[in-house]
Amino acid sequence: MSTHHAPWWRDAVIYQVYIRSFADGNGDGVGDIAGIRSRLPYLKWLGVDAVWINPWYRSPMADHGYDVADFREIDPLFGTVAEAEQLIEEAHQHGIRVIPDIVPNHTSDRHAWFQAALAAGPGSPERERYVFRPGRGPDGAEPPNDWVSAFGGPAWTRLPDGEWYLHLFAPEQPDLNWQHPQVRAEFESILRFWFARGVDGFRIDVAHGLIKHPELPDLPPRRADDGRREHVDHPHWDRDEVHDIYRAWRRVADEFPGDRSFVAEAWADTPERLAAYVRRDGLHTAFNFDFLMSSWDAKDLRSVIDDSLAMLGAVGAPATWVLSNHDVVRHPSRYGRKVVRRWTVNEPYRPEGPLDLELGTRRARAAALLMLALPGGAYVYQGEELGLPEVEDLPEQVLQDPVWERSGHTDRGRDGCRVPIPWSGRSAPYGFSPDGARGEPWLPQPEAWAELSMEKQKRDERSMLALYRAALRLRHEHPALGDGDLEWLDAPAGVLVFRREPGFVCAVNLSTEPYPLPEHTSVLLGSGPLEDGVLAPDQAVWLATDAFTPVPAA
Ligand code: GLC
Repeated sequence: MSTHHAPWWRDAVIYQVYIRSFADGNGDGVGDIAGIRSRLPYLKWLGVDAVWINPWYRSPMADHGYDVADFREIDPLFGTVAEAEQLIEEAHQHGIRVIPDIVPNHTSDRHAWFQAALAAGPGSPERERYVFRPGRGPDGAEPPNDWVSAFGGPAWTRLPDGEWYLHLFAPEQPDLNWQHPQVRAEFESILRFWFARGVDGFRIDVAHGLIKHPELPDLPPRRADDGRREHVDHPHWDRDEVHDIYRAWRRVADEFPGDRSFVAEAWADTPERLAAYVRRDGLHTAFNFDFLMSSWDAKDLRSVIDDSLAMLGAVGAPATWVLSNHDVVRHPSRYGRKVVRRWTVNEPYRPEGPLDLELGTRRARAAALLMLALPGGAYVYQGEELGLPEVEDLPEQVLQDPVWERSGHTDRGRDGCRVPIPWSGRSAPYGFSPDGARGEPWLPQPEAWAELSMEKQKRDERSMLALYRAALRLRHEHPALGDGDLEWLDAPAGVLVFRREPGFVCAVNLSTEPYPLPEHTSVLLGSGPLEDGVLAPDQAVWLATDAFTPVPAA
């Protein structure tokens, strides 16, 4: 498939398919496998190397598939295992690899194991596969400790028989006990099930959460956010013992032919802690959330890039870069606001103040060229290539993310970045569902998205789509791009300029002054028009410094 000598995952561009919202093949208003299959030619045309598909397993959908009831079945909403196999085969025919999501931290409360644990009662072996405990206080009416759910509220729910069970997310997502050998064996068997069906790897959900401190102590005191990065010994995040699990998973991946690989969703306190996931005998890659959380600021971005390359380089792993995903506010909207509060692992992003979407979009174009020029791999979240903004005004009655309810209606949750993709046409469903569909799209699409549809942008060479496609094309053709190193060049404050060999320079202007371009032989690609050889604020450019000429577009 890949012509590179290094394994494909060292510099792949992986397109994230949020299956509910990508393409609806059967007209029920929810995306599905048939929809993905119908759009493979588009993904090939766009030029991505792989797709990561959010959970497609059988699920009651309390957290849109992250509550899995059966890991060896596809949910009927999305299709069947046979269709998944067809998708994998057809994607491979298009030269596109397939990476499903695996969710090992928890199951659905409808999973056979949890149902058995409920039926068997306190003290039973069935309960040992999850985290059940008696409560505190005179009648055990207080939760066993003070842990909180990532979606708001306590991380414990009490059953009528008096015991409590742990759920770091929704109550419908009970946490598994990874000290239990059956849990370990079961997941290795699930990995083999899907590897045997041809998947090229897995994205590991909440990879940093599997191991809990055996005594389940209360949380450590909250740190003051003084901007310092230091690792805190936490009772359920990023515990060292988690790496034993991944060493075993690596051995499973290595049983199969081809380069199968893992990417960890691991939120770590420091780049060193993140690098621990991708040591040679562990996972292959991890998402770089520091890059995603960085504000549009040259100093911040440069330090994230330097730290990431240094720490990952030290363990021989490639970096990955990501700007958006299904859990965060889409980046044109993030970059279109003044940063009021720093966004860290402990303090989630909250939109504040007026939005300047034109500015945010200009920056998003520049950010795409920055990301795609950096050494390593990159993730593109569906719709990012169309420049979709966050939908901030979804009516309250359509909100579905459990965060909305669990936060007592104080946090609108993540639905605003999950609105179905506009493919074509002047009105909803914009080609997301087939003509004459029975169902409306599961979240309403804004009217303004008529201007952002894929078909419309395909015909406009100044569109975000045209920019992504040109950048992905050049990435494949240019020998300097992908895996490798970079060298920073001198530049005024607020401007990032780096060289990659052979003969490539990327410049990004995050300052408020125009920046005269450094020496070059040709302009390969710009995020906006270049006037008089200067790079305007919030623009980026790719330059050739030797005789490289791109192959003309087909
Ligand atoms: C991860 C997923 C998120 C999900 C959570 C619980 O953070 O990206 O969407 O809600 O895990 O599985």
